Amino acid sequence: MTSKELREKYLEFFKGKEHAVIASASLIPENDPTVLFTTAGMHPLVPYLLGEKHPAGKRLVDFQKCIRTGDIDEVGDDWHLTFFEMLGNWSLNDYWKRESLGWSLEFLTSERWLNILKEKLAVSVFAGDSDAPFDQESYDIWKDLGIPEEKIYKYEKSENWWGPAGQTGPCGPDSEIFYITDKEPCGSDCQPSCSCGRYVEIWNNVFMEYYKDENGIFQKADQRNVDTGMGLERTVAILNKLPDIYSCPHIEPIVEEVNVLRDYKNLGMEGVLGNDMYGKKDSVDYEKNKKAIRVIVDHIRAATFILGDERGIEPSNVDQGYVLRRLIRRAVRFGRQLGIQGVFTFKIAEVVIRIMGETYPELQKNKDFIVNQLVQEEEKFALTLEKGLKEFQKMSADNLISGKEAFILFSTYGFPFEMTAELAKEKGVEINKQEFDEEFKKHQELSRAGAEQKFKGGLADASEQTCKLHTATHLLQSALKKVLGEHVQQKGSNITVERLRFDFTHPEKMSDEQLKQVENLVNDWIRQNVEVKCEELPYETAKERGATGLFTDKYGEVVKVYSIGDVSCEMCGGPHATRTGELGHFRIIKEEAISAGVRRIKAVLE
Ligand code: ALA
Repeated sequence: MTSKELREKYLEFFKGKEHAVIASASLIPENDPTVLFTTAGMHPLVPYLLGEKHPAGKRLVDFQKCIRTGDIDEVGDDWHLTFFEMLGNWSLNDYWKRESLGWSLEFLTSERWLNILKEKLAVSVFAGDSDAPFDQESYDIWKDLGIPEEKIYKYEKSENWWGPAGQTGPCGPDSEIFYITDKEPCGSDCQPSCSCGRYVEIWNNVFMEYYKDENGIFQKADQRNVDTGMGLERTVAILNKLPDIYSCPHIEPIVEEVNVLRDYKNLGMEGVLGNDMYGKKDSVDYEKNKKAIRVIVDHIRAATFILGDERGIEPSNVDQGYVLRRLIRRAVRFGRQLGIQGVFTFKIAEVVIRIMGETYPELQKNKDFIVNQLVQEEEKFALTLEKGLKEFQKMSADNLISGKEAFILFSTYGFPFEMTAELAKEKGVEINKQEFDEEFKKHQELSRAGAEQKFKGGLADASEQTCKLHTATHLLQSALKKVLGEHVQQKGSNITVERLRFDFTHPEKMSDEQLKQVENLVNDWIRQNVEVKCEELPYETAKERGATGLFTDKYGEVVKVYSIGDVSCEMCGGPHATRTGELGHFRIIKEEAISAGVRRIKAVLE
């Protein structure tokens, strides 16, 4: 059975039980700072699980794209993926445990639907604790449905409780359904909770009867919901009697693409040995390189979906952008380990788009963006990867990577901390995370303090890049005034080595055209290579000259004025670049509202 057939069957089955089909939502949760990604089908439904009326009714069904990053460093086993699809059905204060568990079993075992042998299934229920009692009801229902007692396991909250999605929210006991594979038990106590791979969880039925509040107390909820989630890739693998999810018909071609890339580059004699030598399942080569191959497949598949999402997330050092960066860079590192040379991740993304684009048209629509971003990020990283690896070798000669060293690898060579930590683990070298965190914080505080102190005599962080971004900020302000009007007033500015952030007054969202005009103006001024001049003048003189500036009441007697030809004249502590030509290419990465009438632009120099 293909993934397409399974999606269709699932929706059809639940339509037959009066469920309305709803669309898969964005991978980036809307207006929700509690989580970075949609981690389960229930996530986009939280408002309805809390009582808001859903326009489609009380019974819903869908398939939802999800990202779970909890174990991206462990990806590579047979059953886990960073990006996966979840089939889900919901009852919003409607049906309860008997229908839910009964329908799950019917869909799995009925000949008309998935036709899985009941003997191949085991289940689990919540054992109970001081927050909530044992789920006797689910236990009894499973018994009634013909699951023998020795196959009904009772587990604690760590195994059999779902939610909330963020710190607070709806939650409750769950009941999981496992497929028993043909793998031998790992010991006499082999059971669903062990990770040996004999038991594969395929479906989770959550009974949301609680609400976890700000104080961590589990209150009985006003509304009783059912939230279920079935793993699409796992189920496809099981239905096709495949040994792992990477063998699924919609994932295997991605594995093959990685092997093709290896063959071309490794052998330098494509067609002589053919693809048979490399990467074939069961071959020594595949076993040896399985983890690296799977990491690349998993990470670039996930990166393709993040980039393809309508929100336009780009690799960066914060939030979703940081996860995306980690995924791409880790895949690139493993690619090098496999001997793949040159820019390659976009080729894998193209395969992902080809396979998944029909179900997720946003991938097709954003194909250029996905490819461009992957190429850019990979090129950026490729420049420093080898040097960074050499540096790592040197640094680890004493069997310890200090926090400062890890920070240098991060800031100069672009190594996400987790990647350095992984390298350290591979080499049996210790790493000081706490010191890294301190270093990182210091660095962040420096630039923040710098932005705040800039009228008091200089940025604390005076790296070359910071100077350039500072000058770019002045150009940006002038460009905004030209394009939007003189009402544009600086409201705030924050510069890190990565990017500038500029807040300003403007009543509405800027159009794409306006953003382009601003970018073009700034880049024109950069191209003209204008000199950046600094003078120290009495405050009044500076004002007479029309120098712009923030926090007027904080100015001293004599102020520094930076002028860039006739483009810009600003009171400012500096420091700056000496000529605009040093800046490189200016690009706006985001324009958004931060409060009524105040917009924020984030931009980079590349
Ligand atoms: N929300 C539940 C899960 O993801 C169904 O396991």
